[in-house]
Amino acid sequence: EKGGYDYFMLKEIAEQPKAVADTLLGRIDGSGRLTLDEVRIPDAVLRAADKVVIIACGTAFHAGLIAKYAIEHWTRIPCEVELASEFRYRDPILGQKTLVIAISQSGETMDTLMALRHAREQGAKVLAVCNTNGSTIPRESDAVLYTHAGPEVAVASTKAFLTQLVACYLLALYLGQVRGTKWGDEIHAVVRELARIGDEVERVLETMEPVRALARSLAHKDTVLFLGRHVGYPVALEGALKLKELAYMHAEGFAAGELKHGPIALIEEDLPVVVVVPSPKGRSVLHDKIVSNIQEIRARGARTIVIAEEGDEAVVPYADHLIRIPATPTLLQPLVSTVPLQVFACELATARGNEVDQPRNLAKSVTVE
Ligand code: F6R
Repeated sequence: EKGGYDYFMLKEIAEQPKAVADTLLGRIDGSGRLTLDEVRIPDAVLRAADKVVIIACGTAFHAGLIAKYAIEHWTRIPCEVELASEFRYRDPILGQKTLVIAISQSGETMDTLMALRHAREQGAKVLAVCNTNGSTIPRESDAVLYTHAGPEVAVASTKAFLTQLVACYLLALYLGQVRGTKWGDEIHAVVRELARIGDEVERVLETMEPVRALARSLAHKDTVLFLGRHVGYPVALEGALKLKELAYMHAEGFAAGELKHGPIALIEEDLPVVVVVPSPKGRSVLHDKIVSNIQEIRARGARTIVIAEEGDEAVVPYADHLIRIPATPTLLQPLVSTVPLQVFACELATARGNEVDQPRNLAKSVTVE
């Protein structure tokens, strides 16, 4: 049942190229237009929406944080992302023009369910992004866009996360299409790139042996920090969450720009710091800033583990360990940059003798608030 893998998690990491392709299947037509027939919210409602609110927990929340960048960039609709467990307790401002997106792999997470019920009571339309057919969250939503990751058995979410990202990108592009915003060359290029992203994920998976070796060499460490910017920031949070739940290590993700506002005080000799580097092209300002961050932390003794695009030579002098990922459009980078972090956490957990598929104290679906 584990298809020759030692753990479901390893199998599910390996299934990601297919999961991503399956989630795209039938949703882009020959001319590059999106056909999301399941999104049974009338176009008029999507056109009138003046705010998007994303609610989710854990890894799904990280997918939501990334979706915000895509939704705001491609549609110019303001988008908030909130932890489902916090949402209804702060009396959020919702109305008929609010489009709520509830992201959940299991479709049974109680925090997310209670948040979506609250949103619907206030008149908002709720669209679920979900991996489990017929589960409670899609049943209680106005519409659902299913992720086609297939069953995810390991408690730590991997392939569901990548497909949540794909579904959110599709949704953002679809909103752009329906509303006629920014529907131009950039979006066509993104759609084309999405269509081949499964192959890029496959390429990343083929180069993971050095990441495993690195993870094993860090098995005795107490702390690992993760830094990122732009969409790399939620990726850093996701890398840290994976390490907490699987390796039971202290791990934190920071926005790299926040370093100087506090976290840099944590840097000490030989502390492993993983840095997710944005694309050097187009956004060179961000790229330059993160390269200076890497220099700063390395000067203070950090062991820098740098995830950077192929061809990005600027990081080479400051990377104690360099993990290469294929170049992608800026917003899509999380689809490839997350993969090494999953492998890293899984291998560290194994090296520390932890139960990979069933981490202590955790359940696959959290049906209590
Ligand atoms: C992390 C993880 C959890 C879930 C969270 C939400 O690896 O598995 O953080 O992402 O409990 O679960 P769903 O997506 O089922 O609502």
